[in-house]
Amino acid sequence: MDDHNRGATAYAALLHELSAQPKRWLVTGAAGFIGSNLVEALLRLGQRVTGMDNFATGHQHNLDQVRALAGEAAWANFDFIDGDIRVPGDCARACGGAGGVDYVLHQAALGSVARSIEDPAATNATNVGGFLNMLTAARDAKVKRFVYAASSSTYGDHPALPKIEEQIGRPLSPYAVTKYVNELYAEVFGRCYGMDSIGLRYFNVFGPRQDPNGAYAAVIPQWVAALIADAPVRINGDGETSRDFCYIDNVIQANLLAACSTDPQAANQVYNVALNERTSLKQLHAMMCALLAPRFPRLDGHTPQYTDFRPGDVRHSQADIDKARKRLGYEPTHRIQEGLAVAMDWYVERLGAH
Ligand SMILES: NC(=O)c1ccc[n+]([C@@H]2O[C@H](COP(=O)([O-])OP(=O)(O)OC[C@H]3O[C@@H](n4cnc5c(N)ncnc54)[C@H](O)[C@@H]3O)[C@@H](O)[C@H]2O)c1
Repeated sequence: MDDHNRGATAYAALLHELSAQPKRWLVTGAAGFIGSNLVEALLRLGQRVTGMDNFATGHQHNLDQVRALAGEAAWANFDFIDGDIRVPGDCARACGGAGGVDYVLHQAALGSVARSIEDPAATNATNVGGFLNMLTAARDAKVKRFVYAASSSTYGDHPALPKIEEQIGRPLSPYAVTKYVNELYAEVFGRCYGMDSIGLRYFNVFGPRQDPNGAYAAVIPQWVAALIADAPVRINGDGETSRDFCYIDNVIQANLLAACSTDPQAANQVYNVALNERTSLKQLHAMMCALLAPRFPRLDGHTPQYTDFRPGDVRHSQADIDKARKRLGYEPTHRIQEGLAVAMDWYVERLGAH
């Protein structure tokens, strides 16, 4: 069997196993983009889920949509804590103490390189202080595994492409520092307390429920909102900057595999989560316009505006995903084109009517 089939089989087997024997999960950042998608996937699998969020950047409407999509029976397995990871007591409550949750999927953080450059202290308080609180609470509750959102920003100025987990450069932003500190703390908790964790270095995740609003919106939701509203689309730099855009379903898969892997070699490691593909911003713009043009004919031949490069941005990003493939059985199901098609439909349905 090749890696692709082995990966698909490993994930299918895991989904089957989880459906047959539900576990208890904590998802932090549950009202955000990635967190709400994790909650939805887990509830659809019949799992018991606690979600925590303080709505710093997340939204009640994300949870409302999960409820509508998962259905009332699944929703009955969900508990929500309006809590803050900067508060140790909230973290302890969310983990449920001894006999509490089996797995933590820690997603709560302040994202955005630009936000961290504007206000490094706020980013640090949540991403480092809050992370340490969650890690400590999970240790005290003796959870089976602590899976956390790490970031491709940790590669910093390292020139190698594709990015290999063991080769990182110097951080280019306060956000990147915080995400690297997460990895260091998780590793040290393994060494000092025997704690079991896995870090997932996400590369530009996209999909339904990613926030299109605000100054720190990610590129895909920001552009789709502008394209639908007939507002200018701005490309920072010359358009040749590239990213390994990763559809949300691949990220869900990586989280479930990471949480449940029983291979001792798999634990206390970090893994890239992406596709090992590179798409330039120019190409991304063209793909999005092509997908939207049947509904918005004015987007046929649409031209973006080019502005200055943004400080702190990495020029090119592409993940080597062999480590996740081999040790976790990760096999992405959605390439960028497939993911973009689903995401564009979702945004048109949501934003097209306004
Ligand atoms: N989206 C990406 O491309 C990407 C890439 C790399 C890493 N990540 C990481 O993935 C995680 C999820 O990101 P996302 O894209 O879903 O962002 P998001 O902003 O949609 O979700 C983050 C959630 O965390 C919550 N939160 C923030 N501070 C909190 C606090 N103090 N206490 C409790 N909740 C708090 C927010 O309200 C929000 O709901 C983050 O850790 C982010 O750094 C995301």
